[in-house]
Amino acid sequence: MATRKLLLLPGDGIGPETMTEVEKLIAAMNREHATGFETETALVGGAAWEAHKVSLRDADMALAHAADAILFGAVGGPRWDGIPYEHRPEAGLLRLRKELQLFANLRPAICYPALADASSLKRELVDGLDILIVRELTGGVYFGEPKEIRDLGNGQKRAIDTQVYDTYEIERIARAGFDFARTRRNKVTSMEKRNVMKSGLYWNEVVTRIHRDEYPDVQLEHMLADAGGMQLVRRPKQFDVILTDNLFGDLLSDIAAMLTGSLGMLPSASLGAPDETTGMRRAMYEPVHGSAPDIAGKGVANPIAMFASFGMCLRYSFNMIAEADRLERAIARVLASGLRTPDLAPEGAATVTTAAMGDAVVAAYLAD
Ligand code: IPM
Ligand code: MG
Repeated sequence: MATRKLLLLPGDGIGPETMTEVEKLIAAMNREHATGFETETALVGGAAWEAHKVSLRDADMALAHAADAILFGAVGGPRWDGIPYEHRPEAGLLRLRKELQLFANLRPAICYPALADASSLKRELVDGLDILIVRELTGGVYFGEPKEIRDLGNGQKRAIDTQVYDTYEIERIARAGFDFARTRRNKVTSMEKRNVMKSGLYWNEVVTRIHRDEYPDVQLEHMLADAGGMQLVRRPKQFDVILTDNLFGDLLSDIAAMLTGSLGMLPSASLGAPDETTGMRRAMYEPVHGSAPDIAGKGVANPIAMFASFGMCLRYSFNMIAEADRLERAIARVLASGLRTPDLAPEGAATVTTAAMGDAVVAAYLAD
């Protein structure tokens, strides 16, 4: 069995404690089936700043290039508010996304039946929810230049971010959206702000063309991003794939995550283009939740989004579909058995620790 090289980047806040739980599963899988996962761990974000005064070392960036897949925890926290902007914890994450060209960010929002009552929406609106946000991840206002605070010399300053999309960037993310829709319910809703933004106008035009020329069998609908946000909380089950840019995708995926009961549930995959010779995509997997500094180190964080991110890794990087399905069943079973970390529990209900939840998921996986 060829080895499968995984780079673990636990990062900050609840990243390390949730990663620890997934490491238990990786070890168990290696024991059970000689799955051949070989892991290496490196620092990113605030943790890297503390040790090396950068948010990601070049040597660790090289490890990322060499890995078959990356598991990422979370970065950031108030502790690093004062450090130079180029070294802020998030810069490490953005560097990984940009240098590895991970342009397609998949954020599924699935509502487990056991959690429908934990959602902020009524049960009937979210029970059975299964949507996929396909967020563009290497362009738009996150990376556009100029990006600066300019001194105008008259006591005023001007803050500038630039929203920019080239044709090829919209084409490739549109194709990703349509391709994934074909494996699901075959519907794409593209969201932009063409009523105020040139980039929205052009996004709409390119998506429409790719659809007409290459994916006429897929149902395409366009929605202004603000209306899309409203529809997500009004009637979320109308959506299958939501295709959107970097910034809108950031906002809309937080909304979608909360619909499923807790931000602690939602995994994501960030994928590059398939390699020409091996067919393998560069890929990084990370929970959508952040570092949650307020609960970090207390052993109360929900590790499920981290497990589910590893599940996406099994599915998309290693084509280990049976194992991915088995892990998803394990998560569903543990939830159905009533185990709840505090983020999932109704007021006054009993809760378990991060480690207990992790052990339960590993046990349910092994028992399947
Ligand atoms: C996310 C996060 C990141 C983003 C931050 C940590 C830079 O919010 O992955 O959604 O804005 O993309
Ligand atoms: Mg976000």
